[in-house]
Amino acid sequence: MSARVMRSAVAAAAALVLLAGCAVDRGPVPTPSASVASPTPTPTPTPTPTPTPSFDREARSIDDPDSLWVVANKLRPLQPQSYAPSDLVFVNVPYVYEPYLRQDAADAAVEMLAAAREEAGLELQSQSAYRSYDSQVRIYQGWVDRLGQSAADLTSARPGHSEHQTGLSIDLSSVPSVCPLDQCFGDTPHGQWLAANAHRFGFHLRYPAGYTDITGYEYEPWHYRYVGVELATELRESGIRTLEEFFGLPPAPTYAG
Ligand code: DAL
Ligand code: ZN
Repeated sequence: MSARVMRSAVAAAAALVLLAGCAVDRGPVPTPSASVASPTPTPTPTPTPTPTPSFDREARSIDDPDSLWVVANKLRPLQPQSYAPSDLVFVNVPYVYEPYLRQDAADAAVEMLAAAREEAGLELQSQSAYRSYDSQVRIYQGWVDRLGQSAADLTSARPGHSEHQTGLSIDLSSVPSVCPLDQCFGDTPHGQWLAANAHRFGFHLRYPAGYTDITGYEYEPWHYRYVGVELATELRESGIRTLEEFFGLPPAPTYAG
């Protein structure tokens, strides 16, 4: 890929995220409580997340930025923070702005979007995939300018801390676009299909609803992280929703400094 193509891809991704800033939902609207007493529902027991004892959580590094299991969050910047993957390829899927991912993640994304089309008649597209450090500088600053730093930090990673910089994460939306980069995407057939099936292709919903205190970010039903089929399936089957919990890492709601 030429430098010009890469520059245009990251600039486009930056523009997209900045444009999408106004569309980010800040949370559910409270439902008014009913005035007539209704029967107390029987509580559904919440299954206790349980990892498979035989699963080897140390099979890959979570520190090496080249590892498919690397964990980047507010307490775990990429090392080095200027990291760029060496095997980025164009992802041959419909897109808003040209997507690039690492080879394994790109192959899996192509397969997943084909399955959504063939199995469920759902058309998906990439909104944003790989973003360089410099691209993230511009994107993060755009959010800070728009929302202020504390709100920006709930939706955009600081440069050197974004999973998009690993070349393993992709933001997806429907075609035609409904609720793009908005929490209501999670309620669309496209968002629901992804939530139910992404693990089959090695993708994990990285920022689930209700886990901001652990991941540091609000619910992002559009953001999928490639970790490989084995780990994505283990996460799904164990009921463990975050990489932080799975790998026994401390919660990362805020930056250290
Ligand atoms: N929106 C995610 C957290 C990122 O900026 O990487
Ligand atoms: Zn994302």
